[in-house]
Order: sequence, then C-alpha cells, then structure tokens
Amino acid sequence: MAPTFLITGAGRGIGLSFVKALLTRDNTAFIFAGVRNIATATELQTIAKADNRVVMFPLDLDDEGSIQSAARVVASRTPSLSVLINNAGFAPEKTTPAASVPSGDFLQAFRTNTLGPILLTQALLPLLEKSGGLVVNVSSLLGSIQVNPGRQVAYAVSKAGLNMATTIFQKQNKDKNVTFVAAHPGTVATDMRPDLRQPGAMPHITAEESAQGILQNIVFSGNVAALGGRFITWDGKDMPW
Ligand SMILES: NC(=O)c1ccc[n+]([C@@H]2O[C@H](COP(=O)([O-])OP(=O)(O)OC[C@H]3O[C@@H](n4cnc5c(N)ncnc54)[C@H](OP(=O)(O)O)[C@@H]3O)[C@@H](O)[C@H]2O)c1
Repeated sequence: MAPTFLITGAGRGIGLSFVKALLTRDNTAFIFAGVRNIATATELQTIAKADNRVVMFPLDLDDEGSIQSAARVVASRTPSLSVLINNAGFAPEKTTPAASVPSGDFLQAFRTNTLGPILLTQALLPLLEKSGGLVVNVSSLLGSIQVNPGRQVAYAVSKAGLNMATTIFQKQNKDKNVTFVAAHPGTVATDMRPDLRQPGAMPHITAEESAQGILQNIVFSGNVAALGGRFITWDGKDMPW
C-alpha cells in the first residue's frame, strides 16, 4: 500500500517543506497536513487545491479536543498511517536567563512541544501499528543535555522531555513494530530563527534542506528499524542525548 504521512505544523517553515518534498514522490498516497488556522495557511491551501493527495485539517496541539478530532479525520480517510512527523514546535523565550523565565513559558513549551506530540501519538498509534509505522519527533540540539550550551531553558526542557518520550515509546512498542526516532532538524532559517536571516548570521540550512535531510536519512533511509530509539540529526548523524 502506498505510504501515508501526517505532518504537524505544516503551514510554514520545516513542516511546509516536508509537504512539498513528499509531493515530489510518486508513491505518496496521502499527506495529512495539520495547521492551527487553515484560513491563514495560504501557501499550503494553494498546494492542497492543486494536489488532492494533501488533506489539510485543523490541529492545535495545545487543545486535546483538536488532537482527538484530528485523529478521527485521519481514521476516516485511511485504514493505516505510515509516518507521523511531530514537527510543530514553539520556542517561548530566546535570551531570558533561566533564573527569570516565567512559569507560563515552561507550561506553554511543555504543552506544545512535549504533551501535544505525545497525545497525538497516543491517538494515532492504532493506525501506525497497522502499517508498522514510524514516528519522527522533531526535537532540537537544545534538548540534548550534552550539547545545549546553556540556552533557552523552557524550550530545552520541553525538547528533552520529548526525547525521553521517544525512547519510552520505542521500548514499549517494539512488539507492535512501530519505530520512534528523535530528530534534530539542523540550524534552520525559519520564522523561529529570524536571527539567521540577518547578514553575518551563523552557518545554517534552509527549511527545504532540513526536511529533505530528515526524509532521506531517517524516513526513507531504508533501515528505519535500526534508528529506533535514537536521536538523529537532519544529515544522518547520532546526536548525543
Ligand atoms: N529552525 C530551527 O533552527 C530549529 C532548530 C531546532 C529545532 N527546530 C524545531 O523544528 C520544528 C519546526 O520548526 P520551524 O523552524 O519550522 O519553526 P516555525 O517556522 O516557527 O514553525 C513552527 C510551526 O509549528 C506550528 N505550531 C506552533 N505551535 C503549535 C500548536 N500549539 N499547535 C499546532 N501547531 C503549532 C506553527 O503553526 P502556526 O503557523 O499556526 O503558528 C508552525 O507551523 C519545531 O519543532 C522546532 O522546535 C527548529
């Protein structure tokens, strides 16, 4: 059966690039493209109008009802899901010292970056089991205890939590033939990193390069099972936890 994909945060940034890259593959059956606000995701709307393999649907990871509705939309269109890419994410604080980050930033980051992907994975697990599916949790090098240079505590804690969830889901679902991978997408020039669009910015990649890299080195690596429970960079290297 041709593979089916679900991308969260598909309206812009790396998420939109995943959709575009998957559409270049002939055997893609459906791409379920989750966006918080369909009306403002105009580029994705144009893509979906031109190609009926793209199914846009509303998804707010901060809202459990929205997550359950999303799972019902997917189940109504396909008996199984091949790949879930938990891409959507939010970085509340950029430079505030850890000593001053307010509780609301921690709660928001946890809800969007950790709990949302976990609840969505729970809701879609029955469909993923039917295809021997793959879950890619888009994390960050800032979620690595060894690599984070001491930045963005709320965001970093939420991504470290997502990393932990990745390994636990992997350990508990081995028999069900579903694979879970945490991915670092690189340093990517998107709305999340406006600094990278300034002259003299640090080395970085485009959203297209990031999405293509994750697809090539993880999703279509040809050896997905060997990546289970690992933290892999967009260019296919192991990231220390
Ligand atoms: N850019 C980097 O250098 C970098 C580095 C490491 C990790 N990452 C990770 O890569 C992923 C993609 O980031 P990006 O750079 O493409 O960022 P982006 O351009 O800021 O896009 C973030 C996406 O997440 C969606 N989103 C945010 N909160 C959401 C929620 N509550 N429910 C559903 N969707 C939500 C946004 O939707 P709206 O359009 O509705 O806001 C948007 O589509 C994130 O998980 C991020 O943490 C990025």
